[in-house]
Amino acid sequence: MDQNPYKLFFVALFCLLILSPPVSCQLDYKFYDSTCPNLTYIVRKTVWSAIANDTRIAASLLRLHFHDCFVNGCDGSLLLDDTTTFTGEKNASPNKDSARGFEVIDTIKATLEKACPSTVSCADILTLVAREAVYLAGGQYFFWAVPLGRRDGTTASQSAANDQLPSPFEPLENITAKFTSKGLDIKDLVLLSGAHTIGFAQCFTFKPRLFDFAKSGKPDPTLDGSLLQKLQSVCPNQADSDTKLAPLDPVTSDKFDNSYYTNLVSNSGLLQSDQALMGNNKTASLVTYYSKFSYSFSRDFGASMVKMANIGVLTGQTGEIRKNCRVVN
Ligand code: HEM
Ligand SMILES: *[C@@H]1O[C@H](CO)[C@@H](O)[C@H](O)[C@H]1NC(C)=O
Ligand SMILES: *[C@@H]1O[C@H](CO)[C@@H](O)[C@H](O)[C@H]1NC(C)=O
Ligand SMILES: *[C@@H]1O[C@H](CO)[C@@H](O)[C@H](O)[C@H]1NC(C)=O
Ligand SMILES: *[C@@H]1O[C@H](CO)[C@@H](O)[C@H](O)[C@H]1NC(C)=O
Repeated sequence: MDQNPYKLFFVALFCLLILSPPVSCQLDYKFYDSTCPNLTYIVRKTVWSAIANDTRIAASLLRLHFHDCFVNGCDGSLLLDDTTTFTGEKNASPNKDSARGFEVIDTIKATLEKACPSTVSCADILTLVAREAVYLAGGQYFFWAVPLGRRDGTTASQSAANDQLPSPFEPLENITAKFTSKGLDIKDLVLLSGAHTIGFAQCFTFKPRLFDFAKSGKPDPTLDGSLLQKLQSVCPNQADSDTKLAPLDPVTSDKFDNSYYTNLVSNSGLLQSDQALMGNNKTASLVTYYSKFSYSFSRDFGASMVKMANIGVLTGQTGEIRKNCRVVN
């Protein structure tokens, strides 16, 4: 039984009567204000202690929200463990041995189930956690209001995750097409890519740039020479270096700031797909703009995150509120 049958009833009625089918039922900034007033506090405190234990977890948590939203919408599907009836997203190639932070989500969910049982969706936990991670890693300007009221999906798809998540080896046009198919434009792509101002990537995700770019037998000519040397020493040209880590932003790898863009302007993007943003006039001019105007980045990043957080959301009576983010009820 849901926490507030009256509210749910009126929301459902409103959705049925007022909104035409293509418009999804709106999310609401105050969705849990009466049903789970301690929600923000619990999320912030848990994310804070997770970061105090492991700085990188801020990046990992932010990435979870992106990987959830791009596959079946922001419905918590990424969090589901494989079952006998479906193979989920955790073992899809962009996530396997890569996506991390699931234990933090479990801790938050367990705390919330005590404070306000069967009330807060796992999909909403992911979007709040992403906001808190950026805020804690970036400071007061990197904060935005998060609309809430998503519900959790009841299935997950490994093949959808393989097909729909962008790969660092794809050309810019392909990545742009994936974003466009989710209702995100070029500006959103440039802004959301700014998330690579924190966190790490495994050597295999950029190694061809270091030794054999585009099968040329040579390094990527667009990669800064001194960064190239450093990366070649972290990632020697042999298979056993594949899972070694390099920071996506070598300047301030745990600070959420606009240095992702200043790096790209000075040919110091880590992934080929990052540096590709400088190979197109439209994206390059946006990159240059955000490299100069940190405040604009902080403001516009939040707006694009809210857009991403709206992809394919379930609201009203659709989906469910999972009790355990790893399994459907
Ligand atoms: C534009 C297309 C994108 C591509 C091709 C891409 C690709 C990647 C790759 C290959 C990694 C390293 C994974 C590993 O080595 O295990 C990574 C890490 C990361 N990505 Fe992206 N990404 C993209 C967009 C995004 C977006 C939109 C966000 C969030 C809004 C994001 C957030 C992150 C973060 C924070 C990390 C570091 C995670 C950690 O340290 O645990 N990425 N990405
Ligand atoms: C909120 O939760 C924390 C622990 O998670 C607890 O210490 C605090 O008393 C709670 N506050 C309210 C108003 O329930
Ligand atoms: C601390 O971080 C490490 C590395 O991510 C992790 O294995 C461990 O479970 C974390 N401990 C706590 C208490 O969160
Ligand atoms: C880019 O997209 C095209 C058209 O969908 C596809 O044929 C091609 O294989 C993609 N390239 C890469 C590297 O994924
Ligand atoms: C970028 O702009 C320059 C000059 O405005 C033009 O010569 C060039 O063809 C453009 N490149 C692309 C990829 O559109």
